[in-house]
Amino acid sequence: MCDKCRGNYYITTPIYYPSAKLHIGHAYCTVATDTMARFKRLQGYNVMFLTGTDEHGQKIEDKAKEAGITPQQFVDNIVTGEKGVLDLWKLMNISYDRFIRTTDDYHVAAIQKIFKKMYDNGDIYKGTYKGKYCKPCESFWTESQLVDGKCPDCGGEVQDAEEEAYFFRLSKYADRVQDLLENTDFLEPRSRVSEMVNNFIKPGLEDLCVSRTSFTWGVPVDFDPGHVVYVWIDALFNYMTALGFENDKYVDLEAFWPADVHFIGKEIVRFHSIIWPAMLMSLDLPLPKKVYGHGWLLLDGGKMSKSKGNVVDPYILAERFGVDALRFFLLRSFPFGSDGNFSNELLINTINVDLANDLGNLVSRTVAMAQKYFGEKLPTEQLADEEKDAELIDQVSGLRDQYEAEMEKFAFQNGLAVVFKVISRANKYIDENAPWVLAKTEEGKPRLARVLYNLLETIRVCGGLLQPFMPDTSAEIARRLGGARMDWGSLNTFGVLPADVATVSGSALFPRIDMEKELAALEELNKPAKPAIEIEPYAEEKVDFDTFCRSDFRAVKVKACQNVKKSDKLLQFTLDDGTGTDRQILSGIAKFYKPEELVGKTLVAITNLPPRKMMGRESNGMLLSAVHTEKGEEKLNLIMLDDAIPAGAKLC
Ligand code: ME8
Ligand code: MG
Repeated sequence: MCDKCRGNYYITTPIYYPSAKLHIGHAYCTVATDTMARFKRLQGYNVMFLTGTDEHGQKIEDKAKEAGITPQQFVDNIVTGEKGVLDLWKLMNISYDRFIRTTDDYHVAAIQKIFKKMYDNGDIYKGTYKGKYCKPCESFWTESQLVDGKCPDCGGEVQDAEEEAYFFRLSKYADRVQDLLENTDFLEPRSRVSEMVNNFIKPGLEDLCVSRTSFTWGVPVDFDPGHVVYVWIDALFNYMTALGFENDKYVDLEAFWPADVHFIGKEIVRFHSIIWPAMLMSLDLPLPKKVYGHGWLLLDGGKMSKSKGNVVDPYILAERFGVDALRFFLLRSFPFGSDGNFSNELLINTINVDLANDLGNLVSRTVAMAQKYFGEKLPTEQLADEEKDAELIDQVSGLRDQYEAEMEKFAFQNGLAVVFKVISRANKYIDENAPWVLAKTEEGKPRLARVLYNLLETIRVCGGLLQPFMPDTSAEIARRLGGARMDWGSLNTFGVLPADVATVSGSALFPRIDMEKELAALEELNKPAKPAIEIEPYAEEKVDFDTFCRSDFRAVKVKACQNVKKSDKLLQFTLDDGTGTDRQILSGIAKFYKPEELVGKTLVAITNLPPRKMMGRESNGMLLSAVHTEKGEEKLNLIMLDDAIPAGAKLC
């Protein structure tokens, strides 16, 4: 730890399953963690922010098989490939300090040692596993945990599972875990405690199956070939192996363990608040200080999930609205501990109201007035007005502490609310003091200068407190305020900017979005891509059998074929139809064939249609072809018969 630091701070996200591309729901947790990490750095902590990927398990093995590649290739594509996990975190400006992949050699070796330790101390033993397994969730369930016979997490089908397996003595730790949950602040929000205790601990905590033999994509149990370590054991210990536990790759365990907080989604609270502490107890290791189970981002009332396919693409949103707006939206619109309904309307509305109107306008108006009335710098001759300024200055001075109190509780939404309350107050302050009136007279200038100074100083503090949420926007605000200080110490003091602050103008921080147009554009983008091949809809109307049978289909051979002058559509065919007299048919297929390609081919014609005139020439029948649309383009193939079929043969 450095001398100047307030201490070390270790924060983690869940490590993600790279079984499909990540969506905005995953970005939600990682943006929250990043915001917290940046907040702690701003406060002066020496932060370790860990994220990564959880790459083992049957689901991944199955998906790789489906794709015809190895599991390692499969996860590599999703983790390091284009628009993969690493790209997404770069896009979202995620300032992680360390990234762990559970396929990293050091982690695999460490997991083997950890498993062996618990085997040696008697907490892992061999038995037979009988139960239910949910593949998409990689979770074992007992009969009593199922909901209507389905997986309690995803509601999907579960399968019977019976095999020789290793078990972890979870039951042994039931009392200690219950005490931890009920009598400490280990698990937050506190509302999640009773669910864990009542649904999982009180009915009797059973020992946990911690090995599998039915697939191989996992950490092998080194003392019993054929067994791989249950993916959750492998996954949970990432929080420690990434610091150097049971490996030499890193040496940060002493500095950063126990973790200050694990941020996780609510459906994995069970693993983090029951299984994780029990395993740490088994190894006599310090427990993390806190597990925070946040809510879900819902779409149309249901969880966004890869297995359901109802996901929102963060790339599209970030490209259209900017990364900072998207980050801001996620934490401004929903209380972190509860579920929230994602919608494009809410996103656009939040950007328009908070960012374009309130924050964006405050910055543009203030900087524009400073420049218009005084040029580059404010004059130092300024006139305060105790009565008119007190409320704004008061609010700004107390803001950092209020914000800090909310952030310490992971109440991101409330942290932002206190900042935006002051931003609104500042906009009102402009109207109350009517700078445009003060600007009209020379005597008004000192007061005008002070009004603008107070506004710039308000913007500095608010912009500074927004740094964890919108790092690029805050940097831009600092630039517009002539390189203003935004360090933590400067944010609880009013009057840090020099009186003759120099401002820099720029374009709108957040241009207003036209709701209707944007919704339409997003809807278009989110439409499922048209299938590559489209076929004509089938006819509803029935044709009676006799009518159909009266059509006379014949094999015909192309004797000659030519383009029809002045028509780019028509080909003129001279056909041998077996009668000894040539038959002429015109067909609108010049776009698809060159005449010379068709000479000698055996085609199908309907021969008993009434003659028709086209471009002054007579056509006696019609050639049959197959039509479809491919990538939006019309395609046509003449029906060609085996050349062994003689001209005139009847098709029926
Ligand atoms: O659970 N809203 O990985 P994962 C909010 N590998 N959060 C969401 C979400 C949504 N719509 N969809 C997903 C795993 N998440 C394990 C973790 S940790 C040792 C192992 C969150 O990729 C979800 O709640 O399925 C979870 O916290 C995280 O994304 C990773 O989900
Ligand atoms: Mg999941």
